[in-house]
Amino acid sequence: MSDQNVALWLPRQGLPKRGARFEVGSAPYTPPAANEVVVRVRAVAVNPVDALPGFLYRVVLPWLTFPAVVGSDVAGEVVAVGTGVTRLRPGDRVLGHAFGVEKSQNRAAEGAFQHYVVLIQHMVSPIPGSLSFEQAAVLPLALSTAATGLFQQDHLGLAMPTAEPVERSETVLVWGGSTSVGSNAIQLARNAGYRVVATASPHNFDYLRSLGAAEVVDRRSRTAVGEIVDLIGAGPLAGTLAIGSGSLVPAVAIASRTTGGKRVASAQPGWVTRIRGPRARRPGVRVSGIWGGTLKDNEVGPGIYVDFLPAALATGAYRAAPDATVVGHGLARIPDALRRLRGGVSANKLVVTV
Ligand SMILES: NC(=O)c1ccc[n+]([C@@H]2O[C@H](COP(=O)([O-])OP(=O)(O)OC[C@H]3O[C@@H](n4cnc5c(N)ncnc54)[C@H](OP(=O)(O)O)[C@@H]3O)[C@@H](O)[C@H]2O)c1
Repeated sequence: MSDQNVALWLPRQGLPKRGARFEVGSAPYTPPAANEVVVRVRAVAVNPVDALPGFLYRVVLPWLTFPAVVGSDVAGEVVAVGTGVTRLRPGDRVLGHAFGVEKSQNRAAEGAFQHYVVLIQHMVSPIPGSLSFEQAAVLPLALSTAATGLFQQDHLGLAMPTAEPVERSETVLVWGGSTSVGSNAIQLARNAGYRVVATASPHNFDYLRSLGAAEVVDRRSRTAVGEIVDLIGAGPLAGTLAIGSGSLVPAVAIASRTTGGKRVASAQPGWVTRIRGPRARRPGVRVSGIWGGTLKDNEVGPGIYVDFLPAALATGAYRAAPDATVVGHGLARIPDALRRLRGGVSANKLVVTV
């Protein structure tokens, strides 16, 4: 299969302030090692981290070696499994989180933007026949980021989602609920039994309610903090996921004015949160910055991708949200999708079929 693989290569870091320059070219086919699978990619989604200008690559992914194959969100068919993999077989339709740019992996064979990608088996979920590859591809990085923030012990440390969640009196606040990360956070928290209060622009209120949010507040309202404190009421606030620029200040203010664990997990990575955190600081409120890849190394990754998601997608307890917009077909169209992403999306994920 070696001569059949094709990748969207990022030959070098790129120039400061300019977008990354990609080139489609042949790539080696890498067989799966133990606890890995190879997937024939059928659809990928794009994320802001996929097209960083040169100087940001040095800051966000300083370890990344070039030429690189980037991309995190994959849906496709399993074509080969490594030793020790018993839960997946060739032919299975799956989605998976690709970790090629992760510091521990840093390997072109594991980047999403190619025909054959190597994935870590416990970060892959079978998908039901009713779920298209295009729609399934919206999930991985946003799901992983939300799950890391909600469930890892160094972030909110909440109870994990299950097929039959027990209703809890505690509330989870998702600031930025209509983002891809927020769409997953709302559903994960609901499937763990928590009441969810979320923010978005008003045109997305019904969307957030359809995902399970009990209450929705306009994130731009001048009274949003007070409204949310009132909505949480006396019941404890189990924790807050702060998503989107400017989310940390109101999230911390709300945590300081409510009862509960007073933990805020920011979807900005640790170094951004450390810079922005001090402005938001309030006594007793603990802020942490999420890196959406850390869950692969602890119980949260397999807890979501192996134990929870496959059945939840099959029963309809979990939706692949937000809606996918297919931008084009073929690896060469991914740069167009990244350009379009830089223009902004609302409750939507840009996808390219491969
Ligand atoms: N730490 C990590 O590992 C990691 C991984 C993935 C993403 N992220 C970060 O998480 C954030 C969300 O990423 P995403 O891909 O989920 O976003 P996305 O889907 O592209 O977000 C689009 C949504 O953002 C909302 N939005 C725009 N500005 C906002 C703000 N200032 N506050 C709250 N919401 C805002 C808009 O909501 P309305 O239209 O309703 O206003 C829109 O629906 C980004 O900052 C991204 O860099 C971090």
